[in-house]
Amino acid sequence: MIPAISVQLAYLAAAVLFILGLKHLGSARTAPRGNAMAAVGMLIAIVATLLKSGVVNYPMIIAGVALGSAIGAVLAIRIQMTAMPQMVALLNGFGGGASALVASAELLKGTAVGGSVPSVAIVLGALIGGVTFTGSLIAFAKLQELMRGAPIVYTGQQFVNGLFGLGAIALCGLVALQPDQLPAYAGLVGLALVLGVTLVIPIGGADMPVVISLLNSYSGLAACATGFVLGNSGLVISGSLVGASGIILTKIMCDAMNRSLTNVLFGAFGAVDATAAAAAGGGPERSVKVYTPDDAAIVFSSARSAIVVPGYGMAVAQAQHAIRELMESLEAIGVKTRFAIHPVAGRMPGHMNVLLAEANVPYDKLVEMDEINPEFPETDVALVLGANDVVNPAARADESSPIYGMPILNVDQARQVMVIKRSLNPGFAGIDNPLFYLDNTMMVLGDAKQVVLGIVESLKEI
Ligand code: TAP
Repeated sequence: MIPAISVQLAYLAAAVLFILGLKHLGSARTAPRGNAMAAVGMLIAIVATLLKSGVVNYPMIIAGVALGSAIGAVLAIRIQMTAMPQMVALLNGFGGGASALVASAELLKGTAVGGSVPSVAIVLGALIGGVTFTGSLIAFAKLQELMRGAPIVYTGQQFVNGLFGLGAIALCGLVALQPDQLPAYAGLVGLALVLGVTLVIPIGGADMPVVISLLNSYSGLAACATGFVLGNSGLVISGSLVGASGIILTKIMCDAMNRSLTNVLFGAFGAVDATAAAAAGGGPERSVKVYTPDDAAIVFSSARSAIVVPGYGMAVAQAQHAIRELMESLEAIGVKTRFAIHPVAGRMPGHMNVLLAEANVPYDKLVEMDEINPEFPETDVALVLGANDVVNPAARADESSPIYGMPILNVDQARQVMVIKRSLNPGFAGIDNPLFYLDNTMMVLGDAKQVVLGIVESLKEI
């Protein structure tokens, strides 16, 4: 056991490390240090909590830590980068569920009745934690394709959700005033679990990363409420940081797609996909020009500059090492090569940066959208590698397109556009891409890694 003041000082040190960690996570270069700082902060917070005088059942805690660490280690080793969003969804869900369970345990212990624990914090922990738990499980199921990704909508849905929400708030009020009303508390937990499902099913798979970020924020708020329940300032601080950073990330993603959060949550984006795709397919006959990796190598051999636009397909094909090889081959023959990073390329923020960093592509080669867009008209080759929605010119020109207004990388303005993907199928948003049919576009169809390695081989022979 250590004195209470030492525990509080340890929490303060942990909070400082969390904040510094978050700051360092803001750039790919400093992110590993940020991650390490936050991890050390968490270790300090955990050790301080275990040494607090109130902790009595060490064997139970050790068993829990051992089991949780074993499951976590297996998941961390086995998970593919492309499945990271669903993994984050599950972790958020468990965080929310844990907060709801702690709140329930404290209520059942009867501490709230005696007035020593704020019952408002208990009901908030149960409500937000319950919604986060089932909402995250639905987000996981949609991304893992265990259920239909398209929005599930029915007439009067908003009204029904509104009723559930009002019911939950009424029960929160009742339990906060009379914490011994256990049936009302059970009703609150049940309603929170139902609400998590009904709020997330009308949201399409394409918007799930935003929902996951929002649920991440909720899990932080639930943890914060639990911190008040337990009187643990470390948990209050870390929960608030997760809550605030989750909401900031949600805003960044919404801005990058030019959509409001209300539109993401209630717009059922993706329900229009079939109509949009049909409309796009119903136009005049259009043709694409399909080329081979050898043709692509010839184009590169006479270029002076190239911009690579990576997307989700690069992650699926694990083509990051191959593209680094191509970058080196191009630079060796005098082609200035850089990478243009769209803020929502891939399936989660920073997805492309992480993959390219893993393949040792220098950070200074990665350029953000606003900075690189003016350079496309002066660029010889824009190489689109497994990206689709983030380079769709319909977002700029077609007011009827569901993605109209979303900022895109203006690859169509380059002298030559080279698109590497397996087919003409649409991307995540499910809509056609007029880029493929432009005069200056050449399609090199195939798996991103195989095609890029093919170009590298051909370049050696030129
Ligand atoms: P997408 O628009 O989904 O396009 C990816 C393309 O990769 C697909 O069209 C697919 O075409 C191709 N592909 C898949 N596997 C491939 C392989 N093995 N080799 C070559 N190509 C392959 O991806 P994007 O351009 O990165 O756009 C991201 C999307 O996610 C946007 O709609 C964005 O709004 C959404 N989103 C992202 C985020 C974040 S934070 N990143 C958040 C919310 C939403 P084929 O099937 O023909 O190969």
